[in-house]
Amino acid sequence: MKYRTAGIFAGLLGTGVFLSLTVSRAFAGGGSAFALIPMPMKAQRQRGQFTLKPQARILVDAVARQTGGFLAERLRKSTGFEFNLEETSDSAPAKGDILLTTEDAQANLGPEGYTLSVTPDSVVIRATASAGLFYGMQTLLQLFPPNIFSREAVQGCDWTAPCVRIQDKPRFKWRGFMLDCARHFFTKQEVERVLDAMAMHKLNMFHWHLTDDQGWRIEIKEYPLLTKVGAWRHSIGFGLGPKSSTAYGPDGRYGGFYTQDDIRQIVAYAQARHITIVPEIEMPGHCSAALSAYPQYSCFGGPYNTDMRGKISEGAYCAGKDQTFEFLENVLSEVIDLFPGKYIHIGGDEVKKQNWSRCPLDQARMKEEGLKTERDLQGYFIRRIEKFLNSKGRTLIGWSEILEGGLAKNAVVMDWIGGAIPSAREGHDVVMTPTSNCYFDYYQSTNHTTEPRAIGGYLPLSKVYSFEPIPAGLEPRYQSHVLGAQANLWTEYVPNLKHAEYMMFPRLAALAEVAWSPKSARNYASFLRRLKTHEQRLDQLGINYRKLRPE
Ligand code: ACM
Repeated sequence: MKYRTAGIFAGLLGTGVFLSLTVSRAFAGGGSAFALIPMPMKAQRQRGQFTLKPQARILVDAVARQTGGFLAERLRKSTGFEFNLEETSDSAPAKGDILLTTEDAQANLGPEGYTLSVTPDSVVIRATASAGLFYGMQTLLQLFPPNIFSREAVQGCDWTAPCVRIQDKPRFKWRGFMLDCARHFFTKQEVERVLDAMAMHKLNMFHWHLTDDQGWRIEIKEYPLLTKVGAWRHSIGFGLGPKSSTAYGPDGRYGGFYTQDDIRQIVAYAQARHITIVPEIEMPGHCSAALSAYPQYSCFGGPYNTDMRGKISEGAYCAGKDQTFEFLENVLSEVIDLFPGKYIHIGGDEVKKQNWSRCPLDQARMKEEGLKTERDLQGYFIRRIEKFLNSKGRTLIGWSEILEGGLAKNAVVMDWIGGAIPSAREGHDVVMTPTSNCYFDYYQSTNHTTEPRAIGGYLPLSKVYSFEPIPAGLEPRYQSHVLGAQANLWTEYVPNLKHAEYMMFPRLAALAEVAWSPKSARNYASFLRRLKTHEQRLDQLGINYRKLRPE
């Protein structure tokens, strides 16, 4: 179980109510068809509406082909119309058509930015890159009635979108969501559903928590026991009803894992949605599942098990053995081959160091390396792993505690309990995920009788929405080191997808707006109005969510 101590990092809570003159005027009096989430940078409502007809063509250039295919498929499902995708180098559409193109795109909006123009005659999305076209398409879908998201054909609907001119680009480049698949296992199809929901909200970083004390979820060919032993536990644990999950093996044990083929498919699925996956392989703590399979990499040989029996993590890899590093480097080599993204997350949080204090090998390592404390030994561990990752062209990212014993040279800090300000001042990139605003395992209401059991805490929608990712007190010259914001869903008490969705929504919609929209466009009252329509979209998609009601 993670401690989730209250963040030591004060002052993150933004005041949250900001008005954008451009946007608020443009949207004043706008009906539900203008319920865009996240709010674009600039949107100007125009007179009239566009009506999607069965004979409409979706025109694309070569870069837009994939997004065009997505759009055609989405529209086919809900409207029942079979749309023709036609490749064109034209920069202007004919009447009734939808054009997605890189022609005449605005370079200053960056690769994720786009313009979207809806007129009575046509729809045009322009972007310099595929990601921008994809996000333009997501915005366009939200302009149609919510049943555009229906999973089956809807009869008798007028498929109209209000005319508008939109210019949009994200505020932050890291718009993340973390799912803990170690405490509870989510199938490949379930992970893909999460990726779909992320893409709809223009989120682009999926932090995949794949290993922890209670489960190892990624097949590693060189160490088959990691999944043969470490992916399973005797019961569901955490005091949960056995039927709250279906993740049981044929022998009745709880668990599961992703084969390397599964992972390749999920990575491709994410890539098609412009989502980078950041795999997390926890070390040097939170590793009881790995040590249950290979206890020789602990200080005293265990035994360890994945059942934990309510205990907080005891396991830590022995930092005194070179074999530990050989093992981890071999594991990471396979991980690197599977995940093409720049970042590899190595955890680093909440390491129990008692064994290091008693272990002659760890003590010898400290002496040899001139390390005074076990915290320094943690620093040595992370720096050694970083060297390896850097040698493979990858960047190490870890939780706040990677600051202990001195930050590794190029490391990125994921701030959950502080550390962003000194790290950014030293030139390190940081991702903001403070418990105060980003921990989606917390309760959504103070009334626990109407909520599913949660780990504790209190994180209502309004507090997610009020989050300001740039830490108060960080000087402007260092602010570009704040890559963005991320929500984390730890799943000790979240044993199935429906429950996970309930914890995610609508809070993830709020986080998406925090990470995407300009600060000046944020307005909670407006968000709540738009959310009423957004709920209907989630309904169409069959996504479970906490309905708007008192916090
Ligand atoms: C964490 O919640 N222990 C990162």
